[in-house]
Amino acid sequence: MRSLADRAVGLYAEFLDGLDDMPISRYAPAAEVRAAVVRPVPEHGMSDDELIAHLRDVLIEWGVQCGHPRFLAYVTGSGTVPGAVVDMLASGVNMNVGGWQLSPSASEIEQNLVRWFAARFGMGDEAAGLLVSGGAMANMVGLKAARDHVAGWNTRRDGMAAGPPLVIYATDQTHVVTDRAADALGLGTASVRRLPVDDRLRMTTGALREQIRADRAAGLRPMAVVATAGTTSTGTIDPLAEVAEVCAEQQVWMHVDAAYGGPAVLADDLRPLLAGIERADSIAFDPHKWLYIAQSAGCVLVRDPQHLVDAYQVHASYVWQDRERTGAGVSLGELGPQYSRGFQALKLWSSLLAHGHRAYGARISHDAALARYMAARVQERDRFELAAPVGLSICCFAYVPEPGLDAGYLSRLNERIMTELQLDGRVYISNALLGERFVLRACIVNHRTEADDIDAVLDVVAELGARLDSELRG
Ligand SMILES: Cc1ncc(COP(=O)(O)O)c(C=O)c1O
Repeated sequence: MRSLADRAVGLYAEFLDGLDDMPISRYAPAAEVRAAVVRPVPEHGMSDDELIAHLRDVLIEWGVQCGHPRFLAYVTGSGTVPGAVVDMLASGVNMNVGGWQLSPSASEIEQNLVRWFAARFGMGDEAAGLLVSGGAMANMVGLKAARDHVAGWNTRRDGMAAGPPLVIYATDQTHVVTDRAADALGLGTASVRRLPVDDRLRMTTGALREQIRADRAAGLRPMAVVATAGTTSTGTIDPLAEVAEVCAEQQVWMHVDAAYGGPAVLADDLRPLLAGIERADSIAFDPHKWLYIAQSAGCVLVRDPQHLVDAYQVHASYVWQDRERTGAGVSLGELGPQYSRGFQALKLWSSLLAHGHRAYGARISHDAALARYMAARVQERDRFELAAPVGLSICCFAYVPEPGLDAGYLSRLNERIMTELQLDGRVYISNALLGERFVLRACIVNHRTEADDIDAVLDVVAELGARLDSELRG
C-alpha cells in the first residue's frame, strides 16, 4: 500500500509544483484521447510503476487543469489540498454515510457541517440538510421537498395526475437544472414559468405576483419560486427579500439556487448582497464551486428537516434498528435520493478545519475584487467592452475591434475567440449569451488566481482577437 500511496502523493506534488506552467488543456479530438488513455482491462494486475505512469497520462498529460490559476470558465472550483488528501482517507476507511450505524462519526460531522452552513445563511435553528452531488441534485432535492409539501395530496403515493398541475416560477436567467428538476419530478418543463427580468437581469416581483395570481385563477397550483443568488451568466442576485415577501403572501415555497453565489455569505463585504436568503424554505449551494472543494460536492438546506423526511423516507425491511437501545442518530440515506453514500463531507470539513472560515471569507472577497479589477482593465483597454456589470466574481466582456461593427459579426468573432482560446490552452474562459449577444465570461472561483492571471487572460484575448478579426474580415 505504502509504495502506491507514496507514489500517488508524489504525482500530486509534481502536479501542484508544475501546475502554473502547464497548458490548461491539450485539446485533441475524442479519438486521439481515447487512443492515448484507454487500455484493455488486463488479465493480471499492473505493477505500481505502470499504474502510476498510466495515471500521469490520464490526469496530467491528457487532463484539463481546472485548478490552473488561469482557468476561469463556467463555475468550477479549483480543488483544495486538504480536500484531496483526505479524500484518500475517506475512501480508504469507506464508511457508508447512508446509515448512521455504518458511519456514526461521519454522519454527525456531515449534519453538524450542514447546520453550520444553515446558520451562516441565517435559516434558523431547526434548519438541516445534506450533501449531494452538485447543484443539479441540490436544486432537485429542494424542489422535491417543495412539491411534496405544497401539492396538498399524497404526491409520492398517487403521482402527479392526482391533483391540479403545479407551477414553478423562475426567470430566463435561472439555470436549466430547474427545468430538469421539473421534468424529473413529473411536473414537465412547461410548468416552469420564465418571468421577465429588469434591466439588471433580476426577477421582477410585480410580474411574479401577477403570474401567480393568473395561474391560481386558471386552476393551477403555484408551487415554488426559484430565486437565484448568483446567476451563472452574470452573477446577478434576484431581489431575495422582495421574493420572500411574495412567497409569504402567496403561500408559495421559496427556493434559492445559490449553487454559485451562496458562499458569499462567508465574506463580510458580500454577505449583505444576499439579504433575504434567510427566509428561504430551501437553499441549494455548491461547495465544489466557490468553496474551492473538488468535484463533487453540492449541498441542500431546508428550513424544516421534516420536509426531507416527508419527501424521501422509505422503509427497507432489511434495515432493522433498535434506536432506543442503540441510541443511533439520523441516517442521511433516509433524507435524500441516495441510499448508500460516501463520506463526501470529509473533504469540505477538513478544508474548513485546515484553513478556518476567515481565510475562506477573505479569499471569496478577493475573488470578487479580482472580477472588479478585470472589469476596470477591460474598460481601460482599446478594443474591449464590458458587457454587463460585474456580479459577485463574474466579469462579462467582448472584444470589439472597432466601433460600428455589426452585432452578428461581433458575436461570431467572440465565439471564435473563445473556441480558439480553449484550443490554445494558455488561459481558459467561457461565454455568456446576453440576449442575442455572445460575450466572453470569466468566473473567478479559483483560490490560485491573481491579478497577473487576469492580465494574461486579457492579453491572450487581445492577441487572438486581432488575428481572428483580420482572418474573418480579410
Ligand atoms: C446557478 C447554478 N445552478 C445550478 C448549477 C448546476 O450545478 P452542478 O453543475 O453542480 O450540477 C450551476 C452550475 O454552474 C449554477 O451556476
